[in-house]
Amino acid sequence: MFPAQTACCPTLAVTAESSGVSLSTLAVHGGRQANPYGAVTAPVVSSAPTVFPNTTALRAFVEARRQQRTEQVEYGRYGNPTIREAERRLAALEGAEDALLLASGMAAVTTTLLAWLPPAAHVVLTDGVYRRTRQFVGELLPRWGFSVSIWRWGTGERLADVLRPETALILAEVPTNPYLRVLDLAALTAAARERGILTVVDATFATPINLRPLTWGVDLVIHSATKYLGGHHDLLAGVVAGRRAWVQPVREMLGVLGGVSSAATAALLTRGLRTLGVRMAQHNRNGQAVAEFLEGHPAVAQVWYPGLPSHPDHTVARRQMSGFGGVVSFTLRGGLEETSRFVDALRIPLLAASLGGVESLVTLPALASYYNLSAEERLALGIPDNLVRLALGVEDTNDLLDDLAQALGGI
Ligand SMILES: Cc1ncc(COP(=O)(O)O)c(C=O)c1O
Repeated sequence: MFPAQTACCPTLAVTAESSGVSLSTLAVHGGRQANPYGAVTAPVVSSAPTVFPNTTALRAFVEARRQQRTEQVEYGRYGNPTIREAERRLAALEGAEDALLLASGMAAVTTTLLAWLPPAAHVVLTDGVYRRTRQFVGELLPRWGFSVSIWRWGTGERLADVLRPETALILAEVPTNPYLRVLDLAALTAAARERGILTVVDATFATPINLRPLTWGVDLVIHSATKYLGGHHDLLAGVVAGRRAWVQPVREMLGVLGGVSSAATAALLTRGLRTLGVRMAQHNRNGQAVAEFLEGHPAVAQVWYPGLPSHPDHTVARRQMSGFGGVVSFTLRGGLEETSRFVDALRIPLLAASLGGVESLVTLPALASYYNLSAEERLALGIPDNLVRLALGVEDTNDLLDDLAQALGGI
């Protein structure tokens, strides 16, 4: 169990493995540090600079920092005690030595890549990743002399066919959006390790409750903490976690690029993280029940959910994940008009483009992210007009099923 709390400031940095507790308990307590106020919750420290009482103290600080004996920082772009509390908790949940909090998921993706890519490196990106990640890697990195290959693993393409001698990094997203494809991470990391390639996995759709990429040999795991980790649709944040020596270059790059989080956001995130276990249990329950219900409904053409035996990656997902999350994608029998009518008839899910919060959200990808393209161009990208993405919240399962039934009945 957790070590007893002593007078001041022991780090309750435990891992699920070392403590024998479940991830749900770890979400409540893991990485918590006692504070000088005896407060149960961490104090929110919003100061940008740190004050030193005199030059002797300043000299002692810079000396300790030079020898890497202190976590203290002198300025908010390099760290903050409230942000550090969130980072310790995130590290504990991922089973990581260290974690770094950033301003957004995109800050986590871009800062990690810029920290880790050597000049003229080749990057492999899996297909189906978040479109802004695809834009950064596929459009911006080549402008700066990097080369990029998309690995279409979902169509059976072999990794060996896209690797090059100068491949430095593979960036994957597991599960993907909107089709929840689940890459086999053990196979990926075995192939990458053989060639000294860094593996980075964006596991936003899974959370550490459902998937812990580091245990499958991944080097760095990234999240848009805006989603399940925050869990309440009220913050933007990103995280990267892994071995301390792997996170450190990203931390140093963050101090230069400046995409830092804030104490207020970190406090909100820490509040959200403490209920991650119970929230994910309900997201998983709702996801499975809704996917099964939709698959049996005559108005539904196809359902994608890794917890369904019909999903192309069901076997890998069952081996690799302990739950399948709250996102369910499906196509309706009909076109944009019928699909829009269905979405408008829903009473519980809100029409909004995110996921992972307590409120269920629904999006129509053809309208939300791909409206500027023609129906044919959208289809070529795998986005038909009758596709719906449901990001189920933590509402009562039967209420959600009743709502879906009445909305489907009206199309
Ligand atoms: C899988 C994934 N990664 C990264 C991001 C970017 O995160 P943020 O919006 O926090 O910048 C998103 C956003 O939707 C996402 O879905």
